[in-house]
Amino acid sequence: MADSGTVSIKAGGKILTADKGSVLMDVFRKNGIGIDAYCGGRGFCRKCAVRFISGAPEPSSEDRRVFTLDQLEKGSRLACRARLFSDAEVETGFREGFEILESYEGESGGDISDSSYVLGIDIGTTTVVMQLAGAESRKARAVRSFLNPQRIYGSDVISRISAAAAGKGGEMRTLITEKLASGYSSIKEELGISDGMVRKACVAANTTMLHLLLGYPAQGLGTYPFRPHSLKYEERDLGTVLDGTPNGVVLSVLPGMSAFVGADITAGLVLAGLDEPPAPSLFIDLGTNGEIAVSDGNGILVSSTAAGPAFEGGNISCGTGTVPGAIFKAVYQDGSFITETIRNAPVSGICGTGIIDIMSELVKNGLCDETGRLDGRFHEKGVHLGGDVYFTQKDIREIQLAKSAVCAGLLTLMKKKGLKADDIGALYIAGGFGTKIDIGNAADIGLIPKGLEDRTVVMGNSSLGGAMEFLFTGDRDRFIRTAAGAEEITLSTDDDFSEYYMDCMFFERL
Ligand code: FES
Repeated sequence: MADSGTVSIKAGGKILTADKGSVLMDVFRKNGIGIDAYCGGRGFCRKCAVRFISGAPEPSSEDRRVFTLDQLEKGSRLACRARLFSDAEVETGFREGFEILESYEGESGGDISDSSYVLGIDIGTTTVVMQLAGAESRKARAVRSFLNPQRIYGSDVISRISAAAAGKGGEMRTLITEKLASGYSSIKEELGISDGMVRKACVAANTTMLHLLLGYPAQGLGTYPFRPHSLKYEERDLGTVLDGTPNGVVLSVLPGMSAFVGADITAGLVLAGLDEPPAPSLFIDLGTNGEIAVSDGNGILVSSTAAGPAFEGGNISCGTGTVPGAIFKAVYQDGSFITETIRNAPVSGICGTGIIDIMSELVKNGLCDETGRLDGRFHEKGVHLGGDVYFTQKDIREIQLAKSAVCAGLLTLMKKKGLKADDIGALYIAGGFGTKIDIGNAADIGLIPKGLEDRTVVMGNSSLGGAMEFLFTGDRDRFIRTAAGAEEITLSTDDDFSEYYMDCMFFERL
C-alpha cells in the first residue's frame, strides 16, 4: 500500500512505487521497464501508448488528439503524458526479455561439438543481436535478440545523442551493458560453458551506439562538424565492458567511417565483399539510418541518406519490429488486403516487409496515385488492415521521403563513379527485416533503381554477419582498410542528389 505522497502502479509484472504526479514514462524508465518512444516523449509519435486497466488519469490534450473517445474510455493513454495521481494497473504490451527475431542466419544446429566459441554482437538503434558460434564449426549455437533498451530515450540516434548531451549517457550505457551482460550469461548457461571457452568477441554498431557502449562523449556526433570521439578499431576486455569485471575475453570493436556511417556498415561492406568486388556493386542498409555504398573496385563511396526508420516501422503510425502479430506480407485481392502476420498472431502492427508490400499493392492497384495520394475509397484513417491497425496517408508520405532518399542517394553515388544500372554486378540489401523482403515490390515502389531486381542479394543483418566474419577470419586489417579507404559523400548539399530526390519522389504507374 503506497503512502499518501506516493502511488502504487502495477505494470509489466511488477509493482512500482512512484511519487504522486510522476509521469508514467519516467516511472518505467527508472524501473527498467522498456518502452517505445520514437519522439523521445514529446507526445506525437503514439509509440508509448498504454492501457490503464484501473486508475486512468484524465486524458491529456495529446491523448485526445491521438485516441478515439472509445479508446480513451477503455483507458488508452500516452505514457509520456500520463501523470499518476492514484494507484493504477497498466497494461503495457511492451516486448521485454529475449526473443529470437529475424536476424543474420548463420549456419546453425548440427551435433558437432566445439571446444571453443566466438561471440558476435550487433547493437542496432532498434534491435540488438548476440550470437555465439562454434569457433571450429562456424555454426551458430545460441542467439539472443532484444529491443535496444535505450529506446526509452528515443528511437533514433539523434534523440540518443540529445539525451547524452542532457547527461543521460551513463544511464544509456548501463541500460545496454546490463542487457548484454544478461544475454551473455543466459547463453553461457544454455550451453553450459564458461568464459574460458569463449575465444573472442566482436561488436559492430553504428557510431552513436558504439560511443554510448564505450562511454565516449557523444555530443560531437550531433552538431557540426559532427566529429566522433573515436572511429578506431579497438580491443577491450568483454567482462570489463559488460559489468566492470575482467573475464579475459578479448572484445574487438570494429572501426567506423564517420559520425553517420559506422562500424555496422564496415561489417556489411566486408561481408558483401564491396572492398574487392568482381564487378561494380551497390549496398543499402535499410536500418534506422539508411546507409548506402557504391564500389567499382577502385574505392568505395559511402553515404547516410537520413531516410529515417520508415522501413523498420519507426515513424509509421502502426509500424513495429519483427514481432508476433506484425504484418510481414500483404496482397490486395478482391477489394481488400489479405495479410500474413508473424507467428500467425492477431494483427498488432506492420513490420518493414509488410510496409513495402502494402505500399507496392497500393501503387500496383491504382489505390494511390503517382504523387502518393491515397484513393478516397478508404476509411478516413487510411487503409484498415485488421484490429486497430491502419496504413495512413501520412505513412505513405514517410515511405515516399524514405524511398526517394535511398534511391536518389544510390543514383548520386553511381553517377559520381560514372556507373549506370547495366554496369552493376550486384545490389546487396541489408537490414533487420531478415531475408523476407519482396524485391519486386521494393522495385515497384522505387526503393531501388530500376532494372536491378534480378541482381539483388538480400543479406539480412549484415552488421552481425560482418562481426562473425571478423571472428572467423581474424582478418583485422581487411576491416581497418575498408573503413579507412571509404570516402564519405554528403548528400544534403549535393546538386545531383537534390535533382534525383525530386524525380524519385513519384510513384510510377505500373
Ligand atoms: S508519444 Fe509518447 S513517446 Fe512519442
